[in-house]
Formats: sequence, structure tokens, C-alpha cells
Amino acid sequence: MEFADVVKERRSVRAYLDKEVPDDVVYELLEYGRLAPSAGNIQPWVFIVSRDKEIRDKLVNATFRGIDENTEPHYWLQQAPILITICSDRDRVYAKYKERGQAIFQYLDIGATIENISLGAVAHGLGTCWIGSFSPTKTAEILGVPSYLEPVSILSLGYPDPAEPVRKRALREKSQAIFWEKFS
Ligand SMILES: Cc1cc2nc3c(=O)[nH]c(=O)nc-3n(C[C@H](O)[C@H](O)[C@H](O)COP(=O)(O)O)c2cc1C
Repeated sequence: MEFADVVKERRSVRAYLDKEVPDDVVYELLEYGRLAPSAGNIQPWVFIVSRDKEIRDKLVNATFRGIDENTEPHYWLQQAPILITICSDRDRVYAKYKERGQAIFQYLDIGATIENISLGAVAHGLGTCWIGSFSPTKTAEILGVPSYLEPVSILSLGYPDPAEPVRKRALREKSQAIFWEKFS
């Protein structure tokens, strides 16, 4: 696929086919993730790939809507055959960039790796949805993640269900987001 098509076709996918994603494809996508830029080349990311249904169900139950932990989990996530939890190694980041690294850089790095994976998924006919509304504490417990790793996002991965229409997406006006030379 052309790069422009990959970028334009990437959408959050919230309905998946009951079809496994081959391991070699998963590894290829994670390789794209590993190639992402990171502040000082720290590469703080750690990917935990969950295929096991029991573990995935637990992860789904650690999700919620928006910022209210008491809302319903994202049950549609149960359809995704793979959930990838992306953690940041807070110690690695702190060793080089101290508080600024932990407050800002690590999240930018994780964002970059997730976007690489998400775009790569499109090129392989796959879909993803980036999940930020979940409990890092519960997730760390489910996955046995040590305290120096922070679960930052969960990414669902699978073959999109073509029967499910993709939600409409409103893009902000260019005039509100793009400025030349100075903000106006
Ligand atoms: C940091 C971040 C967190 C997100 N968290 C969630 C989430 O918890 N649940 C969800 O359904 N979508 C989540 N999304 C997906 C966004 O809702 C989606 O990207 C946005 O609505 C634009 O739609 P598009 O991805 O189809 O272009 C998240 C996206 C980002 C970048």
C-alpha cells in the first residue's frame, strides 16, 4: 500500500473477525514498533502480547469509558484476538531524563511506537484500536508487570469485521490546527 493510503485508511477498529493473526505478522508489526524514534534512543517500550482468552478477558475487565473507572468495560474488545499492552520502563527513562523523561518523553515514545504498529497493521490488512481508558494497576497485576514498568496503553489487534461500519470522524478545521510562522 502507498504510505498516504495507509495513513488515510487507518481508523480505530472496534469490531473484529474471529480469525487468528499469524505470529510472524505480529512479530513484523512489533518490529515496526521497535523501530520508532525515542528520546535519547532510550526505547522505553516493553510489549506484552496476550492471545490467551482468559488473560484477555481479565484485561478487558480492567478497561472503562473515558475517565470514570466505574463505567462498563469495553466489551467489544473481547472480539480482538490479540491485545498488546505497551509498558514504559520508568527506570530507563529516569536514568537519562529524570522527571522530565517520566512526565513527558516516555509517553511521546510510547505514542510513536504505537502509531508505527497501528500504521503497519493497516498495511497488513489488520486493524487496531488504541486504548487509554484502563486501570494500569489492575493491568500490571494481571500481567505480572513489575513496578518499574508502567502500562501506558493497550492496543487491540485483529482483522476488521467488514460488516461493521467505521464510525464517522470529524476532523478539526485546518485553520484551527495549522499556523504558518506565528500563532494567530
Ligand atoms: C491516547 C489515546 C487513547 C485512546 N483511548 C481510547 C479508549 O480508551 N477507548 C476507545 O474506544 N478508543 C480510544 N482511543 C481511540 C480514539 O477514540 C480515536 O483514535 C479517535 O476517536 C479518532 O478516531 P480514529 O482512530 O478512527 O481516527 C484512543 C486514542 C488515543 C490516541
